[in-house]
Order: sequence, then C-alpha cells, then structure tokens
Amino acid sequence: MTRSTPPPAEITEQASALRDKLNDWSYRYYVLDDPAVPDVEYDRLFRELSKLEADYPALVSPDSPTQRVGDRPLDAFEEVRHEVPMLSLGNAFDDDDLTDFDRRVHERLNVSGDIDYIAEPKLDGLAVSLVYEQGELVRGATRGDGETGEDITSNIRTLRSVPLRLRGDVPALVEIRGEVVMTHQGFEALNARQREAGNKVFANPRNAAAGSLRQLDSRIAAERPLDFFAYSVARLEGRDWPRRHSDLLAWVRDWGIRVNREVRQCQGVSALLAFYHDILERRAALGYDIDGVVYKVDRLDWQEQLGFVSRAPRWAVAHKFPAQEEITVLRDVEFQVGRTGAITPVARLEPVQVGGVTVSNATLHNMDEIARLDLRIGDSVVIYRAGDVIPKVVSVLADRRPDDARPVQLPAACPVCGSDIFTPEGEVIARCTGGLICGAQQKEAIKHFASRRAMDIEGLGDKLVEALVDQGLVNHIADLYRLDAEQVARLERMGEKSAANLMAALEKSKQMPLARVLFALGIMQIGEETAKALARAFGDLNALREADPLLLLAVPDVGQKVAQSIAAFFHEQHNQDVIDALLAQGVQAQGEDRPSAEFVARLDLVHLLVSAKALQAPLDGIGQTSLEKLGAHFGTFAALRDADDEALLQSGLNAAGVEAVRRLQADRSWCARLAHAQAQCDALRDRAPASSSASLPLAGETLVLTGSLSRLTRDDAKALLEQLGAKVAGSVSKKTSRVFAGEAAGSKLKKAEELGIPVQDEDALLALLAEHGLTPDS
Ligand code: IVH
Repeated sequence: MTRSTPPPAEITEQASALRDKLNDWSYRYYVLDDPAVPDVEYDRLFRELSKLEADYPALVSPDSPTQRVGDRPLDAFEEVRHEVPMLSLGNAFDDDDLTDFDRRVHERLNVSGDIDYIAEPKLDGLAVSLVYEQGELVRGATRGDGETGEDITSNIRTLRSVPLRLRGDVPALVEIRGEVVMTHQGFEALNARQREAGNKVFANPRNAAAGSLRQLDSRIAAERPLDFFAYSVARLEGRDWPRRHSDLLAWVRDWGIRVNREVRQCQGVSALLAFYHDILERRAALGYDIDGVVYKVDRLDWQEQLGFVSRAPRWAVAHKFPAQEEITVLRDVEFQVGRTGAITPVARLEPVQVGGVTVSNATLHNMDEIARLDLRIGDSVVIYRAGDVIPKVVSVLADRRPDDARPVQLPAACPVCGSDIFTPEGEVIARCTGGLICGAQQKEAIKHFASRRAMDIEGLGDKLVEALVDQGLVNHIADLYRLDAEQVARLERMGEKSAANLMAALEKSKQMPLARVLFALGIMQIGEETAKALARAFGDLNALREADPLLLLAVPDVGQKVAQSIAAFFHEQHNQDVIDALLAQGVQAQGEDRPSAEFVARLDLVHLLVSAKALQAPLDGIGQTSLEKLGAHFGTFAALRDADDEALLQSGLNAAGVEAVRRLQADRSWCARLAHAQAQCDALRDRAPASSSASLPLAGETLVLTGSLSRLTRDDAKALLEQLGAKVAGSVSKKTSRVFAGEAAGSKLKKAEELGIPVQDEDALLALLAEHGLTPDS
C-alpha cells in the first residue's frame, strides 16, 4: 500500500464509523460516567482505527481519537491573551465568612429569601481555557497571570477527557474554562515510574499536573495521566446566553465536555454548609485532590449585577478545606522490612493535623529518596497527605535545620532478624538477606518453598503455612521436615488423613533435584531458569554455596546483579545454617555431582580478570584485548601476581596496561580474592568430567572470529562453537588453530595471514556448525 493510494469508499466509511463509535464511548465514559464497553473493547477498536489510518494516511482527521499521542516538541510556548481575564476567587475560611458572603449577596441584590447557589468542588489542579470554533478545539491555554497565558494546545489535545470536537448543536465560538487535575492513582503510578527511571518525583498531584501541562514535548504530556473538568463558560458567540450558570454547565455536558459529578444546586447557606461537610467527609474517596468547594450565584443576570471587586467575582466564593500539606518535625527514621525483604525507611514525625487527620508517620520509600530530599533527623519537613494514600514527606525546610540534625543511616543489619542488609547493584531498594529466617519474610519464604514449581509439597497451601507459623510449629523451611503427623493433625481443619498426606508429600520433596531446591530457597533474582543454569554449572550445592561471584559470572545468563544477590544470600550465616539443617533433615538437593565441562572451560584467567574488572577491581585503563593477552600468557593468577614489568611487556601489554596490573598486584584484598577464586576454579576443574569436553568435536581447537557475520551474531557463533568444545579467543596468536573471517575483517585477519593460520569464511563456519547439527537459530 502506498501513501498516495486513496482509500476506497467503504474504508473511509469504516474509519468514520470507528471514529464516531470511539468518540461516543469516550463521551459515555468521561461525561456521562457510564462506560459503554470495557476498556479492552475500546482498545481493540482503537487499534483497528490506527491500522486503517496507517494504511491510508489520507483518512487521518485532526479530531480522530488516534491523534492524541503528542506532536513534535516545541521550542517555547506562544503567549495567549485572554479576551476575558481569568480571575481568582475570594476565600471563606469558616462558617462566619460564608454567612458574611451570603449576607453581602443579599444586600447588593436587595433580595430576601434563600438564594439559589451552585456548589462545586474546588479542584486542586491548574486552570485552563479551551476555545472551540464551530465545534472544533482550536486552542488550549494556561491561566498565566490571568491576562496572558501560554498556548498549550498540543498538550491539551492529548487529554482524553477533552473532546477534540464538540457534539450536537454547537455555537460558532465558545470558550470553556476548567481545571486540569491528576488523580491520586495516576499520580502514584507516575511517581513510581519516575522513581524507577531515576527521574524527578513530584511532590503532589497538582505539581505533577503543572509539570505535565508545561511539557514542551507533548509526547511526554500524552503519557501523563491528566484529567479535565469544566466549571465555566467565558465567551459564547452565535447564540444567546442562558439564564443560569447551571444551564451553562448542562450545555457544556451536552457538547461532550466533562463537568464534575459532585456539582449540586443549593438553596441558602444551610444547604451550602451541608454540601461542604458532606464532600469534606468524602474527600479521601474522590480519587483526586480538592482544596475546598466553590459556591456560585446561579442566576447569570444576578452575577452581572454583582460584578467584581479587585479581580474576584462578588457572586462566588471559595470555602477552603483544611490543608493537605503541613509542616512538622522529623523525630526519627525507622526501617521496616516487607514480606519480600524490602527495607523501607519510615519517618516518625511530631504528630500534626493534615487534612483533618493526625499524622505521625510518613513513608520515605528508600535511601535514594532520603538523599534526594537531603533529609536529616531533626529537620522541619512538609508532609502531604491525600485520600487514603500514605502520607509522604515532600520537602525539607533547609533554613530551619537545627545544629544537631543527624543524617539518616541505613542500618547494616535487618531490624527484624539481624541478617545483613544488601542493596543490589543498580537498585535503590535495600533488602534483608535473611530471607529464610527473617520473621518479616518467613511466611512468604515458606509458601514459596512449598509451591508447585519449587518443592511441590502437596497439601502445604498458604493457609496451612500461616497456621504452622502462627502456632510456632515452623519458623523456617527446615522446620517443615521436623514436623510430626500428630502435631499437624491437631491443627484446625486438619485430620489424621491430611496430616499423613502432608508427611508423605514432605518426604517425597526430599528427592527434589538441586535446581528445584535452589529455586525454592527464594534467593532474590533467582528464577527457575537461573536456578537450572546454576545447578547444571556447579553440579552440587556445596561448590555453589561457597563460590565467589567471580565464578558465578561464568554461568550463562548470570550477570553482576544476580551474582551479587547469590553471593549475598550465601554470605549470610543464618541462611547457611538453614541449608545445613535442610540437608541434615535428608533433603537431597541432588545435582549431576560434577561441574559441567562447558562451565569449567570458561573458568580461565581471562574470565577471572574480566569479571574482576566488572566488579570494580583496580584494572581501569586495561581493555578486553589486553586482559585476554594476560590470560593467554600467564594462565594462572599466581603467575600473573608474580610477574615483573618485563614479563608483562612480553605478554604484549603497553605501558598503561603494565601500570594497571601493577595496581592490581598492590591491592592485597583483590589479590587474596583472585587467588581464592582461582583455587575454586582449579578445584572445579579437577572434578569436571575430563572426557566429555575432550570428546567434543572441536575440543582442543582455539578459534578466532573476526569481521562482521551476516547470518548470525558473533556472540551466537561463539556460543555454538563453544558447545562443540572449541575455545573462542578474542585475539590471534600462535595458539590459534583457525580464523573465521566475515566481511571487512581487519587486523586480526592480517595477523592470521602473517602467522600462516588457516582462514575460512562465514559459509565454512555455517557448514562446520551444520555438520554437527547446529544451525544459527538452534
Ligand atoms: S470558578 C472567576 N470553579 O480556583 C473565578 N474555579 O481561585 C472563576 N477552581 O484559578 C473560577 N475549581 O483554577 C471555579 N469549580 C471551580 C473551581 C475553580 C477550582 C480554581 C480555578 C481558579 C481558582 C480560583
């Protein structure tokens, strides 16, 4: 399909029908609060329309619901002059202020009896103005200083609650004013995403909405969960004004723009007060922030008569709610342990009333958040509390910091079980490593251990685990194997039969293979696949539980994060004790008993050096190629540690490389660690099946890949060749048995030719793999 193909008539019709349907569903959803279909159905039709429009770009119309994804970023917003200024509201802080307001309205109008008011929630977001010409959205603008705002049309167009075209009988021009807000749910989700991505976290939904509306890149704005509610009409052309504000709101709704569902007609002050107290009560459950309610005289002729005083209407007043932000003092920070071991700092506060509730605790999320806030114990802090959301510390008042303010420190040990606390590489959440014994995690750990994909202990469901722990019969997984049938039978809803079945299931689970047991231990980051890879590589639990992360990194798919998590888990003596207890109870954790040949083949000096560098050993300024040269030349860490300058230069290093090795040699703790890791590698190699790798077809060959391959990546080629027993090196030396050269091969090819080493092309490589039943996709 080419771009110029005009869409066939039936396609045009189909697209228009889809558009109408989607717009109608949006109207039902946002304006009528009465969704016509589940979200998935909307999404399905939306995709259908997107596809049609992609096939026939001529179909795209500016009011299509697909056109809400944002446009190219702007350099700056254009200024917009408001034809009718956007004013503010006078405030009433208590019942007396409100009575005064009502009295003044009576006096000015010179009327008696209850006045008809419209009461509306005062939404805590940003005021915006929307201009529709002939029913089409032509401009969205911020309030600015009330006289001049900014043109944010491209951002406004991304809000699904703002129709791009009005419905029904539309006026020639209408300017609608309202508030853009972010829901609590949207706000929490946005902040979670921001936190995850290491981006700015917003203090409250209002700030988040403001930041989003002022995005120069509307594609970012499109991702932000913004909502719009209309509350007034500022200009109307091509038709007469109605009699009342409530008529206007009804028109706005009919045009397809959302008006807040809480808006009510109220007669007299007592009705206003009832409205106020009712909505204040339900404030938390609304799902978005409101900072009060607004009362407006309903009759527009009266509004006109009352007029304005110093930029605020005399016909309306804002009746404020208690603030959702307050200032208090941080007394202390305590650390809580979640069910999965996540350590969360919690602020202990000088109790303070926020939004009508006493707040004495607030979440601090993690240590990064504390650093971001630059929070110290003793600081004065701003607390925000909205809805049912846990109160949070929003900011620190730095100028009120007392001299004795103390920094917040992550404890070294878990406050529940005393195990080490560990923060995985690249993460912000610290975790307790005592997963097997930690009281905060014990139930989850046992449930996971018993689960079907782990030890598959039939009959040991969540309820029973809870009961066993609550009764004090089981504290950790090894205790399961100490249970006796009588104890279990005495538990509620257990009988002798179920108890006997459980005993049998426990007995059976003792035979679970090593991979299952590893997965069942619930080590962070260790899923079933990683557990299998670890079991295959090491062959038995004892080698694995002692292994330095440097060795773990040689297991397929194990990266730094996983390696450190495993090491941290086994480093914790409590965990080792539970594993000993498991083994003593007869759990077999049976593996192949010997490390795998492929794994052991990878455990050479090059691997140790490359991994050590990845784990921040002092090897800066020495590249992969040089590390390979060192590995090939020295063979063992002992030889490298004893090497002098001359030997190092002989291995092919340059001066900078020699210096790097010198630094490593001078680092006693890294030397000890590498020597220890080397000993572990040697021990594994001694136990590996000698024959298996020797019997592989390419055993003993050292190959080099160079140039670019077209049908497989170099990494894949390397992995396949290694499966066949070959060693794949990164540089050509006398030991190289042959070189496979792809397109545009350079210095390695030249070196091979100089040394007279056989060179073959990609076809030969594929033929060699095929000969042994391997294809690039396999
Ligand atoms: S009417 C002439 N109605 O409050 C005054 N304002 O302090 C027109 N606000 O900037 C405003 N909810 O952003 C009105 N239901 C509501 C409102 C509302 C929130 C905001 C608005 C305005 C501020 C005035």
